[in-house]
Amino acid sequence: MTDSLTVRDNRTGQEYEVPILDGTIRAADIGKIRSGEDEPGLAVYDPGFVNTASCRSSVTFIDGDKGVLEYRGYPIEQLAEQSNFLEVAYLLVHGSLPSKDEYDQWVHNITYHTFVHENVKGFMEGFRYDAHPMGMLMASVGALSTFYPESRNISDADNRAIQIIRMIAKMPTLGAWSFRHAQGKPYVYPDNALSYTENFLSMLFKMSEPKYEADPRLVKALDTLFILHADHEQNASANAVRSVGSTQVDPYSAVAAGVGALYGPLHGGANEAVLRMLKRIGSKSEIPAFIEGVKNGNERLMGFGHRVYKNYDPRAKIIKKACDDVFEVTGVNPLLEIAQELEKIALEDEYFVKRKLYPNVDFYSGLIYEAFQFPPEMFTVLFAIGRTPGWLAQWLELTQDKEQKIARPKQIYTGSRGLTYTPTDQRWV
Ligand code: CMC
Repeated sequence: MTDSLTVRDNRTGQEYEVPILDGTIRAADIGKIRSGEDEPGLAVYDPGFVNTASCRSSVTFIDGDKGVLEYRGYPIEQLAEQSNFLEVAYLLVHGSLPSKDEYDQWVHNITYHTFVHENVKGFMEGFRYDAHPMGMLMASVGALSTFYPESRNISDADNRAIQIIRMIAKMPTLGAWSFRHAQGKPYVYPDNALSYTENFLSMLFKMSEPKYEADPRLVKALDTLFILHADHEQNASANAVRSVGSTQVDPYSAVAAGVGALYGPLHGGANEAVLRMLKRIGSKSEIPAFIEGVKNGNERLMGFGHRVYKNYDPRAKIIKKACDDVFEVTGVNPLLEIAQELEKIALEDEYFVKRKLYPNVDFYSGLIYEAFQFPPEMFTVLFAIGRTPGWLAQWLELTQDKEQKIARPKQIYTGSRGLTYTPTDQRWV
């Protein structure tokens, strides 16, 4: 067996031998195929990068057909059950699990970088009272680049390391403050005596009590949700981080682009959309009519379907289980019944079966977030905090990958050519 393709160009009759490496062919090899000396090389048209590998990566492995997700080789189920978010963040960024000393140092560093410059608070206060927290998060994480101008020196390993620690540490502070802002409540400063996730809950919910004490079951559930969201290989926001990062801009600007991509309803905004959808459906008896509307193409069943998973999303399974733990503390969310019935009906319906549409990570996460009393606008912020180590691991890999270039796709031009401009005094008569 030869690991190559033989391509015959029927326009010219010429044959080309295209090597196959790692199950891929190089687009540059396709570019060598030309119909004439002065003609452009053949290109590949792939809107949405459905079948195009943009990088080599050793961060996350997904087998969408089997429903497998691994971070640095470790199955998500084991990490969600036995690890914690900061250890998983270390794993993603550094590539292997930490020793005890490495872990203690990592946790210490992150804990002691949770504060932000007081001016950050000043400009966050300047947002309108009803500003969407994702807009505030995107702007404020991007603005951190102005507080750490040295962060643009991305070729220096120590410099990269400190920016990574800062960003993982400060995202919960920015996220919590954007939440407090919308509520008209004073911003709460970080409490470095608390764990990462406890501190986040304290910054969100603390009022006049001297110390905020969260229910450990809720802390564990939120920490697990952060783990489940920590990375997902070349998803839209990781691709945005890599694409912007490929210009060699500082990591705060690259991550701000990731937050922007995550904001969209087809990506991180889906959990917010799921909850709105469940509320709109309102009762189990309305489900069949709703499903009919989806099948007629009126709208999508939010929280269903995935570009990669053509089987049950492994994260959705873990979240479904976490629902039970959370609802034990908070009481059952009445929308759960509608969600479960919707899932049951959809999984038996030919439309969804044929298209391999299963619940994704967002189908149940919104229900948990609501039980925490987060408004829907905050759901994507929680996703962003969890995804930050993944974005940074992807960015770090990019900065050290000699094969990477500035991201600059080709296009198929469909517009006019060679028109003659007529000045306005002649056109607007
Ligand atoms: N409801 C109804 N039909 C759907 C859905 C859905 N949720 N998702 C896909 N389809 C249909 C789609 O209409 C198409 O049908 P046809 O072949 O007849 O035209 C077929 O399934 C394939 O869909 P696609 O749009 O080509 O698939 P994609 O891989 O481009 O899209 C997706 C993936 C996640 C954007 C899409 O499934 C979707 O819009 N889902 C709802 C939004 C959602 O839950 N997003 C969260 C994704 S998971 C979190 C994350 O990683 O960000």
